[in-house]
Amino acid sequence: MKAPERYRGSLFGNLSFLWDMLRDNLKLIAQLQVRKDRIMNPWEKISLSDYENHMSLASVNQLQAMNKMMKFQFETYLVTSAIVFGVAGGNGLEHVNLKKYSKIYGIDINNIYLDNVKKRYSFMGDILECKRIDLTSEPDMLPEAELVIANLVIEYVGLEAFKKGVLKTGARYVSCIIQINTDDESWVSDSPYLHSFDGLDAVHHRVDEQSLIMAMNEIGYGLLKTATTPLPNGKKLVMLDFERLIQVYRENRCLNIEK
Ligand SMILES: C[S@@+](CC[C@H](N)C(=O)[O-])C[C@H]1O[C@@H](n2cnc3c(N)ncnc32)[C@H](O)[C@@H]1O
Repeated sequence: MKAPERYRGSLFGNLSFLWDMLRDNLKLIAQLQVRKDRIMNPWEKISLSDYENHMSLASVNQLQAMNKMMKFQFETYLVTSAIVFGVAGGNGLEHVNLKKYSKIYGIDINNIYLDNVKKRYSFMGDILECKRIDLTSEPDMLPEAELVIANLVIEYVGLEAFKKGVLKTGARYVSCIIQINTDDESWVSDSPYLHSFDGLDAVHHRVDEQSLIMAMNEIGYGLLKTATTPLPNGKKLVMLDFERLIQVYRENRCLNIEK
């Protein structure tokens, strides 16, 4: 590259040209890094080991509790395909009966989590397919499945995005787990890993049973049942299962009552 006129003719001129170029490029790299950090979802910055170590602490016990509940979620309904929103490291996938299911999708925003899921459950072969999809901005990328499992993820995507995602899957059954807190301050349980979750405040939505039931009713799903599991720290996990009552045709909004 030729230096502009003002730099030419001396060693000093050439050196200052190179210096200016280097400085501009460094500035550009720094700006791109800031932009990347700004658009990264905080979940993409949490390591899987911090997440799993925190969730499985005896004082938190959420990984173990959800694992048991997922066995029930996979076994209860007469379906052959399921999609797990916010699959994280694949907790509970060991309960998938490979004779019953022909397709399981694992969806998450964090590619590293998904790489771990693929490795851990490689024995599931083509039945398991992991897809990096941001549920808040890319619901159109979701595949179809008969059952949606959404455990502790609605809180991070919000009800509006969740409704769009469910509709896109066309699922007949939706089984969700939400966390109900005893106090407003500490929705993340205390632990040595607590600070890994600092960024989550920015994407956290408060979801309770009633707001979830109303949101699901709005898109034509009726509540089948709820089940509550108490946690050691006074919080509780509530599982809410829904069945599609009305087929809402997303494009033309035409209603076709099924039952
Ligand atoms: C609390 S964890 C879910 C727990 C998991 N279902 C289990 O049983 O251990 C929330 C998960 O949702 C994912 N997630 C958060 N926001 C998301 C988004 N916008 N799109 C897709 N996945 C998201 C996170 O990366 C994380 O894996």
